[in-house]
Amino acid sequence: GTVPEHTPKEEFRDLVASLPRREQSILELRLYQGFWLPEHWVPGTIVFQRRFAPRPDDVILASYPKCGTTWLKALAFATAARTAYPPASAGHPLRRLNPHDCVPFIDDIFATGEDAKLDALPSPRLMNTHLPYALLPAPVVTGCRVAYVCRDPKDMVVSLWHFLRRAKPDLSFADTFESVCDGTVAAGPVWDHVLSYWRASVACPDRALFLWYEDLLHDPAGNVRRLAEFMGCPFSAAEDVAAVVDLCSFDEMKALEVNRPGSGTAGRYRVMPRDAFFRKGVAGDWANHMTPEMAARLDEIFREKIRGTGLAF
Ligand code: A3P
Repeated sequence: GTVPEHTPKEEFRDLVASLPRREQSILELRLYQGFWLPEHWVPGTIVFQRRFAPRPDDVILASYPKCGTTWLKALAFATAARTAYPPASAGHPLRRLNPHDCVPFIDDIFATGEDAKLDALPSPRLMNTHLPYALLPAPVVTGCRVAYVCRDPKDMVVSLWHFLRRAKPDLSFADTFESVCDGTVAAGPVWDHVLSYWRASVACPDRALFLWYEDLLHDPAGNVRRLAEFMGCPFSAAEDVAAVVDLCSFDEMKALEVNRPGSGTAGRYRVMPRDAFFRKGVAGDWANHMTPEMAARLDEIFREKIRGTGLAF
């Protein structure tokens, strides 16, 4: 007879079923190697860990969800591809594609058995993940460059709540807030996620870059220069960084036809509309959603967790 084809989901069904389980609003979480991953991420993560064939010039973009993934993908893509696609050109891919359709999620590609898509990407490859550094395969850690974007956890919680509400309109802010505080949140605990990349960036600054969403807002050109240098394609003094910054600016991207409400879904996100990735794009929106007491509590949790690491929020 014929050998049945197994998808990663089928292949690792028993393993996944054996992992501790929790619920977070619309998500089923499984505790995998110290992190609460959405259940549907686990098979792709395992395949990524076992079968990913890194190339020395790979650049992996990493983030905790809602911390600037979409922006980092756009900036890195526009930067890396700027010779082939001048950022000011009307036909730039980012003017007709959502950033999630320009840079693939590695573990999602493995989850759906589309490994060949990664092999087909031209070098240097640009890919992304929401996995913590601790879960990245050893050859990535020793052989690839990883750029991470971090954000004030208070704004991340607000952004996460608005995002999840697109799928579950009656989700309470308090629920989302509590799940972040106690660590049982997708890809959490958040502090361990952030610390995993922070420590890597301190230990190996050539291979792990640590960026802040707030710094990108404050000085986009300076941070894009850092990113370009890190990726191995530095901007010359004469080159126009502003064109990349403008192309990827919140207002530009939000206004694009491709990102308007009703335009469909993006990349791995099979249910989330593309406009859900462009909400407000500012720092400090937390003040409109939580009491000073809640803010102080979240700040204190993070302060406690990162004490002595050199990281400061
Ligand atoms: P808000 O919900 O606070 O507006 P991610 O891309 O990791 O899912 O994060 C989404 C957050 O980044 C959202 O934050 C979104 O508005 C913001 N964002 C998306 N694109 C952006 C851009 N080009 N510039 C600035 N912020 C952006």
